[in-house]
Amino acid sequence: MTFKIGLLGYGTVGTGTAEIILDPLGRNKLLQKIEIAKVGVRSLDKPRSPELPAGVLTTDLEAIVNDPEIEIVVELLGGLEPSRSLILTAIANGKHIVTANKAVIARHGAEIYNAANDAGVYVLLEAAVGGGIPVIKPLKQSLGVNRIQTVIGIINGTTNYILTQMTEEGADFDEVLAEAQKLGYAEADPSADVDGYDAADKIAILAAIAFGGRIKRDDIPCEGIRQINATDISYADDLGFVIKLLAIAKANSDKDSLQVRVHPTLVPKDHPLANVNGVYNAILVEGDPLGRVMLFGPGAGKGATASAVVSDIATIVGILQTNSTSQKLDPLLSCSHDHFSEL
Ligand code: NDP
Ligand code: HSE
Repeated sequence: MTFKIGLLGYGTVGTGTAEIILDPLGRNKLLQKIEIAKVGVRSLDKPRSPELPAGVLTTDLEAIVNDPEIEIVVELLGGLEPSRSLILTAIANGKHIVTANKAVIARHGAEIYNAANDAGVYVLLEAAVGGGIPVIKPLKQSLGVNRIQTVIGIINGTTNYILTQMTEEGADFDEVLAEAQKLGYAEADPSADVDGYDAADKIAILAAIAFGGRIKRDDIPCEGIRQINATDISYADDLGFVIKLLAIAKANSDKDSLQVRVHPTLVPKDHPLANVNGVYNAILVEGDPLGRVMLFGPGAGKGATASAVVSDIATIVGILQTNSTSQKLDPLLSCSHDHFSEL
């Protein structure tokens, strides 16, 4: 028995996803049950690797979300539209969704999860925050019984790569940004990275899960790293700090309100987040009674992100295989409308 999936997008993350699925030996055995039935792109003329069998690649994205044989739609296009509409159509057609698209979830999470709950399908998004770091599931499951006080993250790989290269090598901002784009870390429009919007999307998602959907994406104050120069970095160093772009979600002392923000921050050199360098991300969670936990790993790039995407696909395939008849949503696995209700 195989499970057919449709990929929307075959760029950095889409090709990384195919590379894992098409080379399943030594990995989770469920991968052997996945068939990439269709892959949607803008252009059929670009060279593609891995190559796909004839007829799989298409520019007709609607055909993928309406294909009755496809059970899981994997959205790796980026941006708000057509991603939002395609996800909603796929859900209406009873398909499970895996997405790496933090922008669409941060803005339209409520609508998407509401539709998914009504349709009884999963929407999994492990790759949307922290690249390859497992953070969505741990925050919801293992850490979910704690009363969360703070979530503080370095959650944009591109800006952390830029700041690290500027700090360690004295590198020029524009040159390192071009390198990050070449390495597949940056968004299609890299201002989402350097102006902090991508980190704001991600902290909106983390805060919604950790604290229960009390914030609106547009309410998050957000400052990026364009203004940081070599002098700032050097003064920070003299004073015992490094500069990091932090995304912060913190419960206020009244325990009934939150502060959520993104901005460059002076981090003391002996703080655990100070040594998170390059494309690496880290998410520091403080909760009661657990105390502090830090999740750390590669925060962007083809292989790392694809690892999270394929892990979500395998999770759904595992459920479909065991529960092939009366499929019920596992509340511990899926996010829900409640998490995103006020985003
Ligand atoms: P790319 O730009 O590399 O790939 C995007 C793909 O989507 C391309 O194949 C492109 O087609 C296709 N596409 C985009 N818009 C359309 C459209 N309107 N119609 C048809 N096809 C379209 O992006 P990434 O792979 O880097 O990112 C994909 C998603 O993953 C984004 O949401 C991103 O934020 C997220 N993400 C990315 C990470 C990374 O490290 N790169 C890490 C974590 C999340 P074509 O090839 O023909 O141009
Ligand atoms: N552009 C994003 C980053 C990709 O640099 O972190 C990972 O979400």
